Amino acid sequence: MMPPGNILQFPAGFLWGTATSPTQVEGHIENEWTDFTAPDGGTCRIACDHYHRYPEDIEWMSRLGANAYRFGIEWSRLQSAPFAPLDRNELARYVDILDRLKLAGITPMAVLHHFSNPPWINSMGGWTNAAAVPAFVDYVRRLVAALKDRVYLWNTFNEPDTYACVAYLLGGFPPQRKWKLGQFRRVIDHMAHAHVQASQIIRQEGDARRKPEVGIAKNWTFFHAYKRFSPWDRMTAFACHYTFNKFVLDAFLGGGRRRASTFIGLNYYGRVRFHHFRAMIPASGAPVQRLNDFGFVCDDMVERYPAGLVKILSYLHRKFRLPVYITEHGAASQDEKFRERDLRENLAALHGAMAGGVDVRGFFYWSLLDNFEWQFGYSKKFGLLAVDFADEKLPRTMKPLAEVYSRICRANSVQAELQGRPE
Ligand code: FCB
Repeated sequence: MMPPGNILQFPAGFLWGTATSPTQVEGHIENEWTDFTAPDGGTCRIACDHYHRYPEDIEWMSRLGANAYRFGIEWSRLQSAPFAPLDRNELARYVDILDRLKLAGITPMAVLHHFSNPPWINSMGGWTNAAAVPAFVDYVRRLVAALKDRVYLWNTFNEPDTYACVAYLLGGFPPQRKWKLGQFRRVIDHMAHAHVQASQIIRQEGDARRKPEVGIAKNWTFFHAYKRFSPWDRMTAFACHYTFNKFVLDAFLGGGRRRASTFIGLNYYGRVRFHHFRAMIPASGAPVQRLNDFGFVCDDMVERYPAGLVKILSYLHRKFRLPVYITEHGAASQDEKFRERDLRENLAALHGAMAGGVDVRGFFYWSLLDNFEWQFGYSKKFGLLAVDFADEKLPRTMKPLAEVYSRICRANSVQAELQGRPE
C-alpha cells in the first residue's frame, strides 16, 4: 500500500466525528444498567455526568475541530409506558443538545438503541418479546416528528449482534443469560423487523430540506483460527462468523430488507483468533503481553487488524452497494503512541478502500470521553479526552491522541503509517 509519510486526503464534506452512548456517558439513567456493577466496582450512575455537562462537552468537540457527533437518545428517558407521549423536559434537553451542535457546526447522527431499554420493555422480556417491535416503532414515530428538522442522520440499532450475543449468549450484559441461542435469534429477528419499520417512518416523515439517511451500526469482527490447520478452531471461528456476521447481516439487510436502509454503519475494531477453543483477546482475559508474545497486536480489548477494514468495506460494497459510515473505531490503551499508530493505520486502510471505490461518508472515533465500558466498568480507556473519575467535578483533559485527531479533522487528511503488519 502507501509508503509511510504519505498524506492521504479525504473528500470534501467528509464527516469527522466522535461517538458516545447515553448509558456510558450521561449518568442519572434508569434502565437495566442502573443496578449493574462491573467487576472493577464501576456503575453507570454518574458516568461522565454528560447529562448535565453536555454544553462543556460540545465545546470540547469544537476545540477538536470535529464536524460530526454520533450520540444516543435514551428511550427510557422519553417514554414511561408503551405508546405514551414523550417526556417534554427530557425532549427539550435533547433539542438543546442539537441546537448547540448546530451552532457549533457539528452534524449530529442520532442513535435510537444502544444496549439499553426502558424498564417496562425489560420487564416484558425485552426484545425476546415481539411486543417490543410496535412499542419501538411508536417511539420512533414520535421522536422523528419531534426532531426531524434537526436530525437527518439516523442510526436505528447499535450493534444488535453484540447486544444479543453478550446479553443472551455470554451473560455479560443484562439480563445476563447464557447460551440461549433461541433468544439470541429472536432478539435479532425482532430488532430487524423494528429496523425496517422504523426506517420507513424516518424516510417518509423526515424533513424535506435534507433527505433523511438511516441505517444500523453493524459491528464487524473477523473470526479466525490461530493455526490454519486446526479443524476445531476453524470450526469455532466459522460458527462465530456465521452467527454474528452472516446471520445478523442477512436479518437486517438480506433480500428486500436492504431497501429499508440508505447506508450501512460499520463499527470496526479488529479480529478474534481462536487457539484451542479460546478467544485470544484481552477482553477474554488473555494478558496483552502474552498475546504480544504470540505476535498479536492488541489494544486492551481485541486484536488490531487494519488490513481487515479494507476487506470488510470491499465486501459490504460488493454485496449491498450502499454508502458506509464508520460509526465507531477506536482503541483502549494507556499507551497513546500505540493508539496513534492504530488510528493512522486504520485511516490509511479506510482511505485505501475509498480509493478502490467504496463510498464512505464519515468516520466517528470511539470515544469522545473515557467512559463506562459496560461489563468492564471504567478500566478501558477509549477517550480522546480523559475524565478524572476520582475528582467529583469529573474534569476533562485532552489526551495526546486528541491533538492528533484534531489535526486530522481540521486538515481532512491523515499522514499514513507503514502498512507492514503480517496477515
Ligand atoms: C462497541 C460499542 C460501544 C463501546 C465500544 C468499545 O461495541 O458499541 O458502546 O462499548 O464497542
